[in-house]
Amino acid sequence: MKILVAFAGLCALAAATPTTTASKVLCYYDSKSYVRESQARMLPVDLDPALSFCTHLVYGYAGIQPDTYKMVPLNENLDVDRTHANYRTITNLKTKYPGLKVFLSVGGDADTEDVQKYNLLLESPQARTAFVNSAVLLADQYGFEGIDLAWQFPRVKPKKIRSSWGSFWHGVKKTFGSTPVDDKETEHREGFTALVRELKQALSVKNHMLSITVLPNVNATVYCDVPSIINLVDFVNLQAFDYFTPERNPKEADYTSPLYTPQNRNPEQNVDAAVSYWLRSNAPSQKIVVAIPTFGRTWKLDSDSEIAGVPPLHTDGAGEAGPYTKIEGLLSYPEVCAKLINPNHQKGMRPHLRKVTDPSKRFGTYAFRLPDDNGEGGLWVSYEDPDTAGQRASYVKSKNLGGVSLVDLSLDDFRGTCTGDKYPLLRAAKYRL
Ligand SMILES: *[C@@H]1O[C@H](CO)[C@@H](O)[C@H](O)[C@H]1NC(C)=O
Repeated sequence: MKILVAFAGLCALAAATPTTTASKVLCYYDSKSYVRESQARMLPVDLDPALSFCTHLVYGYAGIQPDTYKMVPLNENLDVDRTHANYRTITNLKTKYPGLKVFLSVGGDADTEDVQKYNLLLESPQARTAFVNSAVLLADQYGFEGIDLAWQFPRVKPKKIRSSWGSFWHGVKKTFGSTPVDDKETEHREGFTALVRELKQALSVKNHMLSITVLPNVNATVYCDVPSIINLVDFVNLQAFDYFTPERNPKEADYTSPLYTPQNRNPEQNVDAAVSYWLRSNAPSQKIVVAIPTFGRTWKLDSDSEIAGVPPLHTDGAGEAGPYTKIEGLLSYPEVCAKLINPNHQKGMRPHLRKVTDPSKRFGTYAFRLPDDNGEGGLWVSYEDPDTAGQRASYVKSKNLGGVSLVDLSLDDFRGTCTGDKYPLLRAAKYRL
């Protein structure tokens, strides 16, 4: 009987397997993690437990040389010099994982010198040619199978949810009009289309692949001419997160990556809206990949913050840097996890954060702690946990999209300090695809 039940279960599983191509799991690896300290320091060898779950490994980030417009390693010492030679180390992982596709990504907000060059390059056919040739050369030289354009376009301006503290903004349509941040929008849109076309052409000679990453707060409606570019790329990864960050919105905290529009919010700033733009423009659903951020954004709460903790709420700037990642306003998933428990109520330690889950599965999880009597120690964090990562994967599956991406692996719990499982967000997403 037991065997029969197990057999029936197997059949049900087989029947449920979609007939379309297997879902992609794009694993971003940010090389910056190599120089973090102690527990946050991640070496290529730490990727190993993740790679059986990943279909693609995206190494970030290369940059652009301002005067020549060539695509170049951002950190020669780390990326290509003999001592570390990460490019080689990463592409050599293919010997152990033959199905893994390894991409080199350019931009990704890691390229901070002279950022105007991302616009200027799009305006000049000569600059584009220099970039394209150098990109193909880099891929060839180090054995990458594809190039990912995580293009650093101008960003939409942050908008307040409430005009003055106390009342929601009404008349969403009126107030969310776009203030242009770029007076050459059309030129840059056309330049990007040309760049994608030219790069695709050069890469396909060598059978290399091409993808696009839409960075947070880049308005794809402005810069991505979907019908013209979608057939030239293997997939597009939508980084639909960081809609709110302590840097952009120091006085107001909110869900950073809601799946759908929370009440009275900008209807354009959520995952479903980002996906819908591409689908509406007739992108094949299988080319769309949805990102899962592996970090939380944090804000300080003060005595003016609403004590219920429900977003949006008044805040006083970025939360304190995490003990390991050491970046203001950001905590890696294991750093959030550690703040949710303080089993011994140790003296001198702040009380743990209270986690608030979302039964509607539409907006996300947050956790918070009110300030103490001296107004200190208040914290609010919006983040993804294994449940919401799984929900996002389910969303992807229900819409027949191409897959998910983890941004990035170094901020997932790659050591397994939270529950003992390494890469809990990656695993949770993979299991629900
Ligand atoms: C993006 O651009 C479109 C077209 O200009 C505009 O209608 C929309 O409001 C913009 N979105 C944001 C979030 O600014």
